[in-house]
Amino acid sequence: MEKHWWHKATIYQIYPRSFMDSNGDGIGDIKGITSKLDYLQKLGITAIWLSPVYQSPMDDNGYDISDYEAIADIFGDMADMDELLAQANTRDIKIIMDLVVNHTSDEHAWFVEARQHPDSSERDFYIWRDQPNGLTSTFSGSAWQYDEVSGQYYLHLFSKRQPDLNWENETLRHKIYDMMNFWIDKGIGGFRMDVIDLIGKVPDQEITGNGPKLHDYLKEMNRASFGKYDLLTVGETWGATPEIAKQYSNPDNDELSMVFQFEHIGLQHKPDAPKWDFEKELNVPALKAIFNKWQTELELGQGWNSLFWNNHDLPRVLSIWGNTGEYREKSAKALAILLHLMRGTPYIYQGEEIGMTNYPFQTLDEVDDIESRNYAAEALENGMPIDDIMDSIRMIGRDNARTPMQWTAGSQAGFTTGHPWLPVNPNHERINVEAALADPNSIFYIYQQLVTLRKENDWLVDADFELQETVDKVFAYIRKTADDAYLVVANLSNQQQTFDLPVQVADVVITNTSAPQALASKSLEPWDAFCVKLA
Ligand code: GLC
Ligand code: CA
Repeated sequence: MEKHWWHKATIYQIYPRSFMDSNGDGIGDIKGITSKLDYLQKLGITAIWLSPVYQSPMDDNGYDISDYEAIADIFGDMADMDELLAQANTRDIKIIMDLVVNHTSDEHAWFVEARQHPDSSERDFYIWRDQPNGLTSTFSGSAWQYDEVSGQYYLHLFSKRQPDLNWENETLRHKIYDMMNFWIDKGIGGFRMDVIDLIGKVPDQEITGNGPKLHDYLKEMNRASFGKYDLLTVGETWGATPEIAKQYSNPDNDELSMVFQFEHIGLQHKPDAPKWDFEKELNVPALKAIFNKWQTELELGQGWNSLFWNNHDLPRVLSIWGNTGEYREKSAKALAILLHLMRGTPYIYQGEEIGMTNYPFQTLDEVDDIESRNYAAEALENGMPIDDIMDSIRMIGRDNARTPMQWTAGSQAGFTTGHPWLPVNPNHERINVEAALADPNSIFYIYQQLVTLRKENDWLVDADFELQETVDKVFAYIRKTADDAYLVVANLSNQQQTFDLPVQVADVVITNTSAPQALASKSLEPWDAFCVKLA
């Protein structure tokens, strides 16, 4: 199998609005990111996935783009972006841009033209019908919005200010590839592709994900843009199975480098229930079964996965699956060790490396996210009590990941000198970068070690994965190459657990506890985790 840089890379996701504010307007910006590159270099990451910084009316915080080749004023300008790329480059850090091409903003020039002039060529860049069908929006309600000018409806699978693009239109497709080449020419490291599994949709058959032409489009995109370069491309693919993931990421298919699949994240809500019907108790046997399936079925050379617990759409993992009290640090380290030593490319979401947690939202007024607000409006209309709605938003709402990055114990966590756009978590007095860097036992240094291990060890890419039989709450696997074997163990609970695998330890690779002692005593303390090389 041909090896690429991203096989041994760890990626760090930045949500620009919330990372670092350089000018005191309360909103994170590009200069703020540039000012923190030394911190990221210390962590050791290979690349940054930058959530959208393009021009946008910010209906969905930048996932509604009105100009793909311009930077939003609140984030800076193209000179700031070029400077970020240059500064990152001198530190060997690549920038992965967020590619949001399932839809644009309703303020994009194409949509403005399409709406005003139904006979323009831009009209067909979007999806118009005389009558709506049953398709619904991820952000609640019908996916069709009536437009007065022509008396037709347009499709929006997200907010009504995010009209879906019509990928059947070849002219449009090539405009998108040209735009991608504009960014590639700037020297970026690749693309994270927003809800890319939706671009092959067949609206009249109510097919949205995994439509019949999806993979043809991706092959065409690959040929017309990034295929000639050694870039990282990762698709956000909610409905992927291992079979589908192979279609995207098998190197012979010339589509993408890897996928984000979300099957494990599905355990955060009740089976077949909407995401708001959350399930806080982690079902460890189910989690083991899901990872086992992905680790074994996505064989080396036939596909590649990403590894993540968090992103800007998900709750902070410590708040839903880890421990935010006594075992906060230990559970954060356990979850990190467990995940990063599997096969795939690990992603760290800003603040994860210091163990940030959900925000204690009290009232709807504190909530910014369009998905949460639309949900609340709909649920209130259906008579759901506000306390139940707030419970869901507190646990699973997207703002939890979007509160400002906690740099210091000081005012506004050192994020801004002004008033932050979302409140800073009061726990920044304990949980912040400054404190983490000062403590050699902090979560940060476990992440730093994991990033280094990933860079330096081929076995993390090559070795087979073998799930081990253990008690329910313990997750253990062995990574095996022709010559070596590595045992990874994590107790995913607040209780002591028995652990009795007859193994001989040669070396301790990484641990949040005393690994040999845990093995000798045949028991694990709460959230014990380690990796050992076997003799
Ligand atoms: C993806 C993004 C999310 C956004 C949506 C619409 O799921 O991660 O933040 O709201 O697509 O672009
Ligand atoms: Ca700012």
